[in-house]
Amino acid sequence: MSNKTILVTGGAGYIGSHTIKQLGKNGENIVILDNLSTGFKASILYGDFVQGDTGDSQLVSKILSDYNVDTVIHFAAHTVVPESVSNPLKYYWNNTCSTRNLLEQCQKHKVKNFIFSSTAAVYGTPESGKAKEDTPTAPINPYGSSKLMTEMMLKDLSFASNLNFVALRYFNVAGSDPECEIGQCTPNATLLIKVCCEAAVGKRDHVYIFGTDYPTNDGTGVRDYIHVEDLADAHLCALDYLRTGGKSTILNVGYGHGYSVREVMDAVERIDGKPLNIIEQERREGDPPALVSIADKIRNKLNWTPKYDQLDVIVKTSLDWEYRLKDNSQGFV
Ligand code: UD1
Repeated sequence: MSNKTILVTGGAGYIGSHTIKQLGKNGENIVILDNLSTGFKASILYGDFVQGDTGDSQLVSKILSDYNVDTVIHFAAHTVVPESVSNPLKYYWNNTCSTRNLLEQCQKHKVKNFIFSSTAAVYGTPESGKAKEDTPTAPINPYGSSKLMTEMMLKDLSFASNLNFVALRYFNVAGSDPECEIGQCTPNATLLIKVCCEAAVGKRDHVYIFGTDYPTNDGTGVRDYIHVEDLADAHLCALDYLRTGGKSTILNVGYGHGYSVREVMDAVERIDGKPLNIIEQERREGDPPALVSIADKIRNKLNWTPKYDQLDVIVKTSLDWEYRLKDNSQGFV
């Protein structure tokens, strides 16, 4: 806890809102900046809310000084990979240019700590299917490139100023708040667990398996699915680390082991108690066969200890949220 304020950008979104809930429970002072382009105000359970853009320098400057901000946790971004391919400049504008504006204001106002939502997409398709922080970065889509460019800006700025940062490279985030107050609300979702849960509650007629001929145990793609509560907690650990003098660093956030598409679908069917209508398809372009983290560094450096490292818990909380949305989506549509 500190008497300074934390600015959370993109706090109305999926991961931001879960992080705010944990920060709020810890009694932190929080101000949220979100333009509500994809987020929902109902997701924000703590803190003061300001509607606006991270690229709006005047507004950011006012918030940083009015609230005496010493830490920024930066979630605000576009995150849909296929959209980044069809509309790359939208991604470079929001994820890179607006972040540059935000960083300029942080420098001006002498913000000390910056925690950044990066992504495993910076690795592209590593041959071994495993990625460590020193695995060469080689993004294969503008989304990954736009995030990597921010990592570069952060490295350079931390060298040239007193700002320290932690960049967290998220693997496949899923699951929901176990109290079911908040969850993932993305319209036109494409992420596997969300899509399967939507099918389970009847929002979709079927689900596709994209590729059954991968060189994996059952032929389907393997990913490192991490529960959003553990991911949110990684931000709180990063906050402690920076507040106690930790130096700038980049960390994978994953469990270090993966599940296949079939294993995910089996879990959804078992927990929901009824079969999904599954259609096998060709591979989806750009999908690596497997992408799993090597994530020892975050455990060692931040003392991060995951509490939800079970596929069934990830699926159960995702399903609970999807059923809740089906019954009552007020504020989340
Ligand atoms: C993608 C991005 C990742 C980004 C994440 C969130 C790439 C290579 N990965 O993850 O960087 O952080 O989105 O934006 O660009 N699948 C199906 N059926 C479906 C949906 C997915 O079989 O309906 C399969 C995919 O082929 C893949 C796995 O499920 O094997 C996970 O896919 P998805 O949830 O879309 O996430 P990624 O593509 O891994």
